[in-house]
Amino acid sequence: MPESSPRTGRATAARVLESEESAMSPEQSGLHDLYVDLLKDTYSAEKQLSAALPKLAKAAEDDGLADAFRSHLEETKGHLDRLEGLFASLGLAARGKLCEGMKGLIKEGGEAIEDHEKGPVRDAALIAAAQKCEHYELAAYGTMRAFAARLGREEDVGILTATLEEESACDTKLTEIAMRGVNPAAMSERGEG
Ligand SMILES: [Fe+2]
Ligand SMILES: [Fe+2]
Repeated sequence: MPESSPRTGRATAARVLESEESAMSPEQSGLHDLYVDLLKDTYSAEKQLSAALPKLAKAAEDDGLADAFRSHLEETKGHLDRLEGLFASLGLAARGKLCEGMKGLIKEGGEAIEDHEKGPVRDAALIAAAQKCEHYELAAYGTMRAFAARLGREEDVGILTATLEEESACDTKLTEIAMRGVNPAAMSERGEG
């Protein structure tokens, strides 16, 4: 096949790309920068959540729901510790960058408290707000884990998986509390409309 054929041309371009990739360490890649940005965003999200969870626990009427918020606060402190470990292993100070997404979700949680008296309807609204926060975290940790795997940071993958599993278990527990008692009780309360 002649050198100038399109097929050979593509193969040559792929080899050039490959050699450029291997000349660059993972730390020099754009993906590494994104990974660090996401760690900072998530660190801020977890900090904000750790300040909000005691308020959610206090606002809840259902004891199981209040307990779920309190036990997730303890887990959330562990998530912050894990993130601090990840920053340290990257040689970076643990520093968040204000997570506007979590700020908005927590504001919605505050509205659930303001808009409803203590009772099952407020509890259902608190669960809705908290599950949005958990899903935000699930997205963040899932993405960070994929980035860490691509960057060859196997230890980080294990650490991020541990947190991801706790976020997922919290989400499942909130669904169970809603289905078991809170939603049926809210259903029997008169609405405002
Ligand atoms: Fe968390
Ligand atoms: Fe969480």
